[in-house]
Amino acid sequence: MTHISSNIEAAASLLKAGEVVAIPTETVYGLGADATNDAAVAKIFEAKGRPSDNPLIVHIADLKQLHPIAGSVPKKAEQLMDVFWPGALTIILPKGEGLSDKVTAGLSTVGIRMPDHPIARNIILEAGLPIAAPSANTSGRPSPTSAAHVWDDLQGKIPLIVDGGPTGIGVESTVIDCSVQSPVILRPGGITQEEIEAVIGKVQMDAGLLEQSQKPRSPGMKYSHYAPIAPLRIIEGSPAFFKEQIQSAKERGLKVGVLGIHEKQSDYEGADIILTCGPNPRLQDVAQKLYANLRKFDEYSLDVILSESFPREGLGQAIMNRLEKAAGHQVIKEDGNTK
Ligand code: TXA
Ligand code: MG
Repeated sequence: MTHISSNIEAAASLLKAGEVVAIPTETVYGLGADATNDAAVAKIFEAKGRPSDNPLIVHIADLKQLHPIAGSVPKKAEQLMDVFWPGALTIILPKGEGLSDKVTAGLSTVGIRMPDHPIARNIILEAGLPIAAPSANTSGRPSPTSAAHVWDDLQGKIPLIVDGGPTGIGVESTVIDCSVQSPVILRPGGITQEEIEAVIGKVQMDAGLLEQSQKPRSPGMKYSHYAPIAPLRIIEGSPAFFKEQIQSAKERGLKVGVLGIHEKQSDYEGADIILTCGPNPRLQDVAQKLYANLRKFDEYSLDVILSESFPREGLGQAIMNRLEKAAGHQVIKEDGNTK
């Protein structure tokens, strides 16, 4: 039986007893367990149906918790922590001691993040443990940005969902590997490449993110993800081109959904369902509503979903990365090249 509450003590007691608890963070909801306890961590993989070769992020609330779980902390990692913690940045470091091997899926490194959410922080402090937590969705589904999303995926499988309302950022943390000489972004997320470069200078994006032929270095990035039931296609081109795509789908008798921009609603004439990120589609708003929109489409028995594309800079890198995964990399371009 799954309860929904906002009781921090209850959450901490369950965590100390080796149970899993869904917890709000500023990015997405996480499914937390004691990162030092093998049996507790195993329950995370079990509840999510997560492949065991995909390592978990360890969440801390105080820098005192960083040692001994991190083996060493390079200078650039320290600079990033100073500026972005607490916040949406996961830093990969050489693995220290005391963590369950299941957390790191046998790797010699560990991803660590200090979340910037009062409920998450208080639960971690109250439990007095490093908390392993992937996003609290069933594997493959969009990450949960509300307690209701967690409920939809995990009811009956976990004892408690702590309700902290909708999450603020809406996409997951940025994952940066600082265990190597030159830090590499393995997953774009809530903290942008530009923000990171302003602190530690130029950083690379993992080749696996830029080119599909390359194997990503973050195990989780190789899995398909976020996909709604209906196939999703990203449209790159003019408003007239977007309209043509809707019309041609309608001519084929399809029920069409559009993931669009509020200000461009009149361009989506003919679509059966229009979900927008806005009004005023700043990338922050798009990110915040992205997963809720992707989940919502499943309520309408659509045949196809056509999505706007967004600039691949700032938060747009994370948005386009998630959209491309949701679309299985199906991008329809006006210039004729179907990617
Ligand atoms: O915002 C977030 O990061 C959320 C909240 C709950 O903190 N968590 C989250 O966790 O998104 P998850 O498990 O859904 O994604 C973690 C990603 C995966 O792609 C995983 O492969 C990667 O981080 N990762 C974790 N540890 C790693 C490591 N040692 N080396 C490389 N990649 C790692
Ligand atoms: Mg996830």
